[in-house]
Amino acid sequence: MRPFVLLVASVAALGGLLFGYDTGVISGAILFVTRDFALSTELQAFTVSIVLLGAIAGSAVAGTLADRIGRRATLLAAGAIFGVGALISAFAPSIGVLLAARLIVGVAIGFSSVVAPLYISEVAPPGVRGALVSLYQFAITIGILGAFLLDYALASSGAWRWMLGLAIVPSLILVGGMIPLPESPRFLFKSGRADDARAELQRIAGTGEIGDEERSIVASLQVTQGGLSALLAPAARAALVVGIGLAVLQQVTGINTVIYYGPRIFQMAGISSDEASILATAAVGCVNVLLTLVAIFFVDGVGRKPLLYAGCAGMGIALAALAFAFAQPSLHGSLAGIALGATMLYVGSFAYSLGPIVWLLISEIFPLRARGLGMSICTLANWAANFVVSQFFLTMIQRLGSALTFAIYAALCVVTIVFVARLVPETKREMLEEIRLGA
Ligand code: BGC
Repeated sequence: MRPFVLLVASVAALGGLLFGYDTGVISGAILFVTRDFALSTELQAFTVSIVLLGAIAGSAVAGTLADRIGRRATLLAAGAIFGVGALISAFAPSIGVLLAARLIVGVAIGFSSVVAPLYISEVAPPGVRGALVSLYQFAITIGILGAFLLDYALASSGAWRWMLGLAIVPSLILVGGMIPLPESPRFLFKSGRADDARAELQRIAGTGEIGDEERSIVASLQVTQGGLSALLAPAARAALVVGIGLAVLQQVTGINTVIYYGPRIFQMAGISSDEASILATAAVGCVNVLLTLVAIFFVDGVGRKPLLYAGCAGMGIALAALAFAFAQPSLHGSLAGIALGATMLYVGSFAYSLGPIVWLLISEIFPLRARGLGMSICTLANWAANFVVSQFFLTMIQRLGSALTFAIYAALCVVTIVFVARLVPETKREMLEEIRLGA
């Protein structure tokens, strides 16, 4: 792989780092924000979840924006908005201002979750596209782990302004890094700038041949109109079903119950001290980072579907073990150990499957004309499902009990395996324009 392509992907992946950091950091910061602004329980919950509402709004408009002003400019805007949100959060004089700042950060997360994978997959040569888009997920997991660790380090001083404000550093790097980078050649072709597009394709291919790729891209543009009508063509409609399905399944199999409520789950399992449960959550964060490497190394060779099967099976087994353990009162002594082991298996299995591969597939399956809008809709579905699951998780635990709650997530892993087997195409090594669904 050419160093230039790796550089382009790495800078864009910083959007993932900010996504991970800004969704993860609030779990620790909220304790101190609550104390400083004397928040009620409702306002506490709202302060945590408003970022998801911002992400829903941001992802709704990001695709249209990326189709109009370009992938690069939208990512630049995301970086700038992240920075502004971080600054306002750090200096927020009141809870109202802090809520507004978190909403702004959410919009940036929504932008980057649509455009970073889209841009990377359009710039990447086919044989390494999976690895490069997985780099984006890798950055998300590093962001989450970084947030956990920073929360932990700053907990004794209660410095929530630093926790939220430090996101300014990666956002400046994202903006500074994106300025010299090229626009996606596919976007350039789409907007009629064929000469620039060819030059960028050649820069990516190095000394390689670009004729075939150019012909496929140009041909794909002749098939349909842009905008909503492109989305109603059969191939795009089939892609919408697969993309929305995957985006929702990534969330309803429960990943963010662990990412957002890890310490709470460990406390339910008997790890009683705050310190130990936060540390256990950080260990889970490390597993999340490390196992994402498996996807980076294997997703282009082994393929998307085998990794999805293995990962969803692992997640299902882990959740079933959790459900079983919580259902046995006699297990109480060893519950903590089982819960920790099962949670590691669960997150590790997600990390090389549903985590990266959902973002990868939804960036691959839409025809070029419908890609921005299509990705926007899938990503919006992902954030909406995330919001619902994280809002209702604690209520589910209260009403249904932990065992049944985890059993439901386990059953949804089985549903995911069936969905992948029946509807999801294998896209490894194919040129983006060769990937066709339902037509
Ligand atoms: C998901 C996030 C999740 C993260 C965990 C991402 O792919 O979209 O919702 O928090 O993975 O690593």
